[in-house]
Amino acid sequence: MKKQIIYIVLISYFIFSCNNMSNNMIYKRKIETKNNYKYKRGKLIKCLFLGCLCYGATMISYANSALKNISDNKFESLDNDYNIYSQSDYIEEVLSKYNNTIIKDRSDLHQVINNFKFKVGCEIGTWKGYFADAILQNWNGTLYMIDPYMHLDDWNMAFNKDNNTMNSIFNETKIFMKNKFGDRALFIRKNSIYAYNLFEDNYFDWLFIDGDHSFKGIFADLVNYYSKAKYLICGHDYLNMKQGGYDDFEVKKVVDGFARAKNLTIYNYGDKVWCFAK
Ligand SMILES: C[S@@+](CC[C@H](N)C(=O)[O-])C[C@H]1O[C@@H](n2cnc3c(N)ncnc32)[C@H](O)[C@@H]1O
Repeated sequence: MKKQIIYIVLISYFIFSCNNMSNNMIYKRKIETKNNYKYKRGKLIKCLFLGCLCYGATMISYANSALKNISDNKFESLDNDYNIYSQSDYIEEVLSKYNNTIIKDRSDLHQVINNFKFKVGCEIGTWKGYFADAILQNWNGTLYMIDPYMHLDDWNMAFNKDNNTMNSIFNETKIFMKNKFGDRALFIRKNSIYAYNLFEDNYFDWLFIDGDHSFKGIFADLVNYYSKAKYLICGHDYLNMKQGGYDDFEVKKVVDGFARAKNLTIYNYGDKVWCFAK
């Protein structure tokens, strides 16, 4: 705006001086020497040149601010009348806006989630509640946490402890989360391959998958929960990794294949977090 005022002042000055000059020229032209006339004409050309420059700069500045307003308003208006429930484009725009930004930790995902007025979320694989705690502190919705908290015979991972250990982890985590968040923290103590049947389609606004990272585990979660999430599906450990002695992580391979089959764009936010909009 300041720039525009300066340009307007400059243009006014230019018009004023041109006017003066042409008056002078009309009255004095007859008595001016040929050289003096040339001098005046040179000045007039300079003024014209300056004027064009100012005019051009003003137009560019106006065009810039108009373009900026258009893109700002786009986000504002969509956000204000909160049309997102029919606005998958808006979700996609927000996701791409944050794409490749470095989220230091998966728990910073609330920066993305809070662009939408999501009410119900779900985390598959909660362990000690590290992600769930950080999300619930920074987001006002209700989070379902699906985790069997038991030894799983078909899950060959370091986190797969004996039943007693899993039981104590569950009790401690549940007490901690319930004291802190009350009914906003809801535990479903089940294996995700059975728990999905408890929920209708589109039950969750968003989903975070961080349970079994083996090929069969992530594949089952994507297939079973795709219809359960209404807007957004994210997860952790977007990589393929050989784990000597344990099942390999094959999250990236499966997520990429699934997204390709469904023609979805994957966004990547740092700390191995992946997301796609439905
Ligand atoms: C890596 S930890 C999760 C960490 C947690 N998301 C966080 O960010 O703090 C993996 C968890 O997935 C759970 N898990 C493994 N297989 C599962 C399955 N099929 N369904 C649900 N949870 C599962 C394990 O019990 C374990 O608690």
